[in-house]
Amino acid sequence: MNITYLDNAASSWPKPPEVAKAMMECVQQYGANPGRGGHQLAMKASKVIYQTRVKLAQLFSIKNPNDIFFMMNATMALNQAIKGYVKPGMHVITTSLEHNSVRRPLEFLRKTMGIDVSYIKPENYEFSLADIREAIRENTGLIVVSHASNLLGTIAPIEEIGRLARENHIPFLVDASQSAGILPIDVETMHIDMLAFPGHKGLYGPQGTGGLYVHPSIDLEPYFHGGTGSHSENIDQPKTRPDRFESGTVNTPGIAGLRAGVEFVLRTGVNVIRKKEWELAKEAMVQLKDVKGVHVFGPDENCERLAVIPFIMDGVDASELAYILDQQYNIAVRAGFHCSPLAHETAGTLETGSVRVSFGYFNEKEDIDTLVSALKEIREAFV
Ligand code: ALA
Repeated sequence: MNITYLDNAASSWPKPPEVAKAMMECVQQYGANPGRGGHQLAMKASKVIYQTRVKLAQLFSIKNPNDIFFMMNATMALNQAIKGYVKPGMHVITTSLEHNSVRRPLEFLRKTMGIDVSYIKPENYEFSLADIREAIRENTGLIVVSHASNLLGTIAPIEEIGRLARENHIPFLVDASQSAGILPIDVETMHIDMLAFPGHKGLYGPQGTGGLYVHPSIDLEPYFHGGTGSHSENIDQPKTRPDRFESGTVNTPGIAGLRAGVEFVLRTGVNVIRKKEWELAKEAMVQLKDVKGVHVFGPDENCERLAVIPFIMDGVDASELAYILDQQYNIAVRAGFHCSPLAHETAGTLETGSVRVSFGYFNEKEDIDTLVSALKEIREAFV
């Protein structure tokens, strides 16, 4: 079946062929337990995992690959970072464009620990540094910002926020769920103390992979405790990284696939990927706005934004529209609230939800033409 896949913000697809190949090789040729035995197959598995850390460190300019911990996804990484760092009495600054993977852990801590949370709102989809500066209090212990909104495609000024956080000695956690592999990320120049990223979106790895980078100066409590294959005689969780944060057997086949995905990103170049997706975003914005009855949200095509575009069509429910696109036109999009009710509230679509199209490196301009011609036909059918 010929599918027009426009749901890359949920999971990128297709993947470069070498991703599945690397996973097959792992399962068939060396699928032993890394870090648990000294035999050749276990050593080979450990080596692949370390090489993946090295590639990720290269991509994000991280000095020590062992400061990267593998997680199942960005949500797990954000939970580890937030729940491992925030203490009772702390105040946390975040934004009104966050995904539930940031909002829910913070709201959970507000209820259970009594922390305070300030949500900074953008003006015309742009954050003001002055608003963030004004929100800083004596007890502000963490700033958490999503690099790019999964609904609106807005890009936060990470470097400037990072500088502000550093000047005020406040750790800075960045949710790179939509930006890792798509926008340049340098944890040093952007003053990022913790970076949560998924493996299955812009890094082109498989689902069930992701990670958390934590600067060595950050004292983080592990969320999970258990076997690490190291210091087994000790009753306490080891202090050494990455073991401290990687209890239990890691997802070796997934991480092998992630390595192939990150290699693809490094080989292609983040700037090349960004340029292609940016061109697609601009073209899609222009064409979508031309369809009668369609209303597009988020920054306009002249602003720097991701290739993630939400829209609604007059007279057609967003979920129904997505269903028709899928069933009648084989076009895959995501509709509803995208786990980001805060962002929908900010955009004014909390009542309706929206359809969201999101492009990846493997999309082409023809995919936009296919989408737009389907939308025009659907619109005709509904008026
Ligand atoms: N957070 C992902 C999305 O935006 C799953 O669709």
